[in-house]
Order: sequence, then C-alpha cells, then structure tokens
Amino acid sequence: MTVEENVPIAPITTFCIGGPARYFVRVTTVDELREALAFAKEKDLKPFVLGGGSNVLIDDAGFNGLVIKIELMGVEQEGEALIAGAGESWDVLVARAIEAGLWGIENLSGIPGTVGAAPVQNIGAYGTEIKDTLLWLEALDMQTGEVVRFANAECGFGYRTSVFKREPRRYVIMRVALQLKKDGHAQASYKDLGGMDSATIAQIRAKVLDIRAGKFPDLSVEGTAGSFFLNPVVSVEQAGQLASKYAGMPQFAVAGGVKLSLAWLLDNALGLKGTAVGGARLYEKQPLVIAAARNTPARDVRALADLVAQKIKDECKIDVEQEVRVIV
Ligand code: EPU
Repeated sequence: MTVEENVPIAPITTFCIGGPARYFVRVTTVDELREALAFAKEKDLKPFVLGGGSNVLIDDAGFNGLVIKIELMGVEQEGEALIAGAGESWDVLVARAIEAGLWGIENLSGIPGTVGAAPVQNIGAYGTEIKDTLLWLEALDMQTGEVVRFANAECGFGYRTSVFKREPRRYVIMRVALQLKKDGHAQASYKDLGGMDSATIAQIRAKVLDIRAGKFPDLSVEGTAGSFFLNPVVSVEQAGQLASKYAGMPQFAVAGGVKLSLAWLLDNALGLKGTAVGGARLYEKQPLVIAAARNTPARDVRALADLVAQKIKDECKIDVEQEVRVIV
C-alpha cells in the first residue's frame, strides 16, 4: 500500500472538477483497505471511499483527508449468479452478463461507475434497479473491522438510497453478488423502451446505450455526474395543484405519494433548460443533468444547483434533494 500526498482527483471523477486529495491510496485487497483505514485513524484523517467518481462533486479546495480508491477486482460466475469485486466497472459487468446470456441488468447498461458504488444509491434506469437482482453483498464495517454479508432485504433499498448511503461513514462495499437468469425476458415497461417486449438481451442493451448517448453529455468532452437531483415525491394534493397549474405534467403514483419528473418541470414549467452559471449548465437534452465544461470550478456547479433548488422552491413549493454527493 502506497499513500501519496496532494494527488489531483478531478481526473478520476466524471465531473473532472475539484482540488486534490491531501492523501490518496489505491486498495486492491481487504487487508490493504484495513491498512488504509488504520492509517487514517492514526493520522486523524477523514477517510473518503471513492469508486468510479461518477456521483460526486469534489470541492475546489479538494479533500483534506484520505481518499481511498477501491480497486478490489475479479468477476466469477456461479450458476446464474455473477459475483464481482467492488472495483470492477459496472458497465463491464453488464456487458459480461449479456455475453453470458444472463438477464436482469441489461436496462442498467451504460451507467458509469463501479460495482461497489452501484448498491449505495441503488442505481436505476429504464424501469430496473440494482435491488431487483442483488442477492447479497459483502462490506467492511469500519466500526468493528469485520466483513459483514448483507442479504438484499438487509440493504434498506429505496429510490436511490440504501443503508450504505444513509450511513456513509460505516460500510465499505467489497463484493456484490447478482442473481441473474438465463430464462428471462425484456423489461420494457419504461416508455422509452416501448414496443421492445420481445427484444433480445443484446437489443435492449443497444437501445439503452443509444438512449443514453442522446441524454447525457459525452464524458470525453465535458463533465457530469448524471442526474444532479432526485425526482421529488409530493402529496397527492400538491401533485393535483401542480397539475392544474402546469398542463400535461407527468406524474407517477408511488408508495408515499406522487413522483414528479423534475426534468419536465425544469424544462416545461420553469423554462430553465440551458441555464448556466459560468461553465456549468442544465444540459440541453436532459435538464436534470448538470454538464460542466473543462476547468469549471466546483463553485459554479454548486451555485447553479442552489439557483435551481431555489426556483423549484419558489415556483413549485418543492424542496428538492441532491443526488450527487458534494465532497468538501
Ligand atoms: N424531459 C423534458 N425535457 C427534456 C428531457 C426530458 O421535459 O429536455 C422529460 C421527458 O419528457 C420525461 C421526463 O423528463 O417525461 C423524464 O426523463 P428521463 O426518462 O430522462 O428520466 P428522469 O426521470 O429525468 C431518471 C433517473 C435517471 C435514469 C432515467 C431513466 C433520477 C434522479 N434519474 O431520470 O438516472 O437514467 O430516469 O430511467 O431518478 C441518475 O440517477 O443519475 C440517472 C441518470
């Protein structure tokens, strides 16, 4: 294990933004992870566990602690299950499932980030979430130093959340097992996949990659962390009021109320698509996404996010929640 000092971390995040890590270490084994955590404790440093850096915004001042980059690798197939190290690329795992003819995660094609980060926010797209196939995962409990196995029901999954998100300083995910199946069929309930009920697994992947290419910025040109906010869930009464104010507003009944499409509200109700602060802007093809030109300071992204949150509060009386984690 080699601990480096003052390491730029912007290039290993998809936003490509922010200052350096005071200390930085890559871990490839559980023992190295324990060593890294012991180093942080001894030096009284805050540890921050980084996967693919695709859901974080690093502040301009950087991170004054120890960034631990998880590089626990390996993929095994056991029957119809795939078991992968937390450091593996999520999309490489999806591609492997598809090659093996295993259904279950094809709708989650093209999501940047690592396998270990995927359950933290219960990644989801096109009608599927990782919780639908997760069999178990293993995590290091930073409080006890023990490796704990969580069954699906113990992960506390919800819309873009889990126990691992709710207790970010407690667990480091190390391995994830997914229960996939050979005898599957297309999950084509999401409107964008309409008419694909009898599609092959490879056709679904190709379609999802195609949709995503049209909705997300090209990471080789500019930065992003995907949806910056969660879609809000409001009461039936509030949804009714908003629907009478904004004709055609999409709404979806969910447990606890009505889920609204924030992208739709930003575009059609507030006309904010393309709004910019410095080099950060609400992406023209999907306004829930913040895109940032190279060398944009994190403060521009944060100022844009604050401005959007305030407008939504003023106009729609909704308190939006950020999906992207800001690291200061
Ligand atoms: N829309 C507009 N204007 C636009 C673009 C979209 O009004 O310029 C409207 C569409 O008409 C549609 C709605 O916005 O009614 C929804 O768009 P989309 O299908 O892209 O879905 P989303 O609700 O905005 C969520 C997830 C995405 C995921 C997609 C597809 C969240 C926070 N985001 O976005 O996940 O890829 O659904 O399932 O739930 C992420 O979490 O980072 C993420 C990208």
